[in-house]
Amino acid sequence: MSNHETLYAKQAVRYHELIAKQPSLKIIIEEIRSVRGLDVVDLGAGSGRLTAVLADQARSIVALDAEAAMLEITAQRLTQAGYTNWRTGVADHRSLPLEDQSADVVVSGWSICYLGSDELPDWEHNIQQVMNEMKRILRPGGTIIIFETMGTGFETPNPPIFLKKYYAALENEYGFKHRWVRTDYDFDSVDQAEQLTRFFFSDELADRVADQRLIRLPECAGIWWLQL
Ligand SMILES: C[S@@+](CC[C@H](N)C(=O)[O-])C[C@H]1O[C@@H](n2cnc3c(N)ncnc32)[C@H](O)[C@@H]1O
Repeated sequence: MSNHETLYAKQAVRYHELIAKQPSLKIIIEEIRSVRGLDVVDLGAGSGRLTAVLADQARSIVALDAEAAMLEITAQRLTQAGYTNWRTGVADHRSLPLEDQSADVVVSGWSICYLGSDELPDWEHNIQQVMNEMKRILRPGGTIIIFETMGTGFETPNPPIFLKKYYAALENEYGFKHRWVRTDYDFDSVDQAEQLTRFFFSDELADRVADQRLIRLPECAGIWWLQL
């Protein structure tokens, strides 16, 4: 996952092109907690997948990310849509530039995983720090909603081995509830499917996409949520 850092810095537009092929997660978030009239924070907001669908209902939304180039896309999208209830900020999940008890809902998509791989010697401490920060900024009764990968190219959950301990900790140590959904990519053509898959995932998956002429690439996502 480490080469993704450069990718987020230099190819934010391409990343957005890829995830724009997936379904909106707005209804899934609303089923867990309506954000209408609430103050929302999106951690690792990237190009704004979650922020952009929550901005119309939220009272305010703060999109934070370690990579400024990704946040530029979020800002462009929100400006074009005419929203004024938002701001962006560069920040690491482990040290959030926000006041105590200043938010009602924290969402985070496909991002905390970069601190939670068990290949990192300090992954447990990282996750503890992120949990502490999310709880610090939430008001009593606040909600945390986390999305992470359960496998791209799979029709049923097949999480990466190096994330299994982090996922187990969410439920067993931190008390999150869990379900999973399909977040398949609907590409415009096989060529596009192959190029975008090779760009973000792996040659192995891109070769399979090309060989099987896949325009729809299956993916599973885990959702973990916690009500304080
Ligand atoms: C796969 S993208 C997800 C972006 C967006 N949430 C989405 O759903 O498309 C991962 C994002 O997490 C950010 N990120 C990775 N590690 C981070 C950290 N420690 N603190 C803050 N952001 C981080 C990256 O810069 C990148 O924008």
